[in-house]
Amino acid sequence: MKGRILSGMRPTGALHIGHLSVIQNWVALQNDYECYFSIVDLHALTTGYEDRLDYPSLRREIALDWLSVGIDPQKSTIFVQSQVKEHSELHLLLSMFTPLSWLERVPTYKDQIQQLAKQGKDLGTYGFLGYPLLMAADILLYKASVVPVGEDQLPHVELCREVARRFNYLYGTVFPEPKDLIGEVPLLPGVDGRKMSKSYHNAISLTASAEEVKTRVQQMVTDPARLRKDDLGHPDVCIVFKFHKIYTPEVAEIEVNCRAGKVGCVACKRQLAENLEKLISPFRERRAYWGEPGRVEKVLEEGAERARVTASETMKEVRCVMGL
Ligand code: TRP
Repeated sequence: MKGRILSGMRPTGALHIGHLSVIQNWVALQNDYECYFSIVDLHALTTGYEDRLDYPSLRREIALDWLSVGIDPQKSTIFVQSQVKEHSELHLLLSMFTPLSWLERVPTYKDQIQQLAKQGKDLGTYGFLGYPLLMAADILLYKASVVPVGEDQLPHVELCREVARRFNYLYGTVFPEPKDLIGEVPLLPGVDGRKMSKSYHNAISLTASAEEVKTRVQQMVTDPARLRKDDLGHPDVCIVFKFHKIYTPEVAEIEVNCRAGKVGCVACKRQLAENLEKLISPFRERRAYWGEPGRVEKVLEEGAERARVTASETMKEVRCVMGL
């Protein structure tokens, strides 16, 4: 094993294939690292405190998404953040010595407050200011050496390192400084060309049926200048082609044939739908297995138990060096 990994995702609703590369990166890492993957429901509450969401079903959905893509509970520990109370305890203890200015200067902080104020949401809360500190607690509790995240999370991992350094300086060395690991995330548009998002109704869900996959591909916008099959095509403006670039090994051939007017949009879409179906059908099978009553619940119970063992060892050290 090359070290320990912790990463997390907020349970905010069904995932789509735009999220796939992140989970597939985790799947690849679980063979080489000791992995902890957390469903961070407390983080979801920091922004969604008024939403009265049904967290038990949101957590079940995201766990099923992870399992269906291939996160393996034999290899990795999958757990719910709020079920391991040590996260809250470490967050509180870290807050004792974290300067307010460190949190206020996190680049996304003021931005997001303004963004969400437009939607009538007040994020001038203590919890939202502490969002990155809660994330630091997630990481440090497991003494993770590597944190796979998206680019947008880099300032948070940086803050985590600073908090670890300050803790070690004040109380003695307990925490390693974690490294970030940026996975490659191909940019995938929605079927209408805008960003893929559930709220735009342009996403291909990880739970899509074969029929839905076909329908979604049929909805994709192609080169508007191409009215007949033998018109010369412009793949660079075609949504179908953007998907082929990610999912079709013979993409070079498709590009040549499209430009030469040798393949029509109908056939081109059919090929993409077949490839997407090949991608998604194994997810469907694994989802059916894990979806049987009680299976996900058992994974999350056992995951929380395993997480608690590591987390409580760290907390013993932390309490001791802080003089509690
Ligand atoms: N903030 C992360 C996000 O929104 C989620 C997260 C919470 C996380 N705790 C974490 C990611 C710890 C990595 C490690 O994507």
